[in-house]
Amino acid sequence: MNLKANNITFSYSKKRQILKDVSLSINNNEIIGLIGDSGSGKSTLCKILSGYITNYTGEVTMDNKAIPDKDFYPVQLIYQHPEKTMNPKWKMEKVLNESWTPTQELKDTFGLKDTWLTRWPNELSGGELQRFSILRALNPKTKFIIADEISTMLDAVTQVQIWEALIKHCKANNIGILAVSHDEELLEVICDDILHFDEINNL
Ligand SMILES: Nc1ncnc2c1ncn2[C@@H]1O[C@H](COP(=O)(O)OP(=O)(O)OP(=O)(O)O)[C@@H](O)[C@H]1O
Ligand SMILES: [Mg+2]
Repeated sequence: MNLKANNITFSYSKKRQILKDVSLSINNNEIIGLIGDSGSGKSTLCKILSGYITNYTGEVTMDNKAIPDKDFYPVQLIYQHPEKTMNPKWKMEKVLNESWTPTQELKDTFGLKDTWLTRWPNELSGGELQRFSILRALNPKTKFIIADEISTMLDAVTQVQIWEALIKHCKANNIGILAVSHDEELLEVICDDILHFDEINNL
């Protein structure tokens, strides 16, 4: 399976173009890194790939076909700020089970503690919340993960733990990953290939 962006062009306003003719391709057995300057448009591209922005030109395809978006979008975004994606009025158990019910094994793999389930989002740390975001994105229908600076808020040990768990799960389930990070050393360790944003954006 293959996720492709073909000649994506996008601007938020007429004043400034953000993306011009951006193309990339990720296979479902690959981890592709994306690195580039702050404010250059990486998160914008992530939102396009995962269906959150739709008013772009060009196309995003899976196996050369339009991505089906009827009940579940198979390209799932994990975002730098997990708290912004969660309803503050929901306890973590409801937040976790919103998309699907992860197995106990998967909860253990990501070090998600049962005692966290009865808390509100504002009662957990960024790293604890990020484990919930990741598990939510690993719905069995997910084919690709767009990981947009998902470990920026974590200490080095936790960062390794979370990436190891995510990569293990994705390899076992044939899920491809686009990993956006400013941490080139991290990308060199985890990725099959690294794209430089200024080389794929033709502004
Ligand atoms: N909703 C929006 N409306 C208008 N402009 C936006 C919006 N979101 C982002 N931008 C602008 O688009 C540009 C690209 O933003 P984006 O978040 O994609 O950058 P980035 O490469 O992810 O940066 P960083 O590495 O800091 O995360 C920035 O100049 C930003 O200010
Ligand atoms: Mg960003």
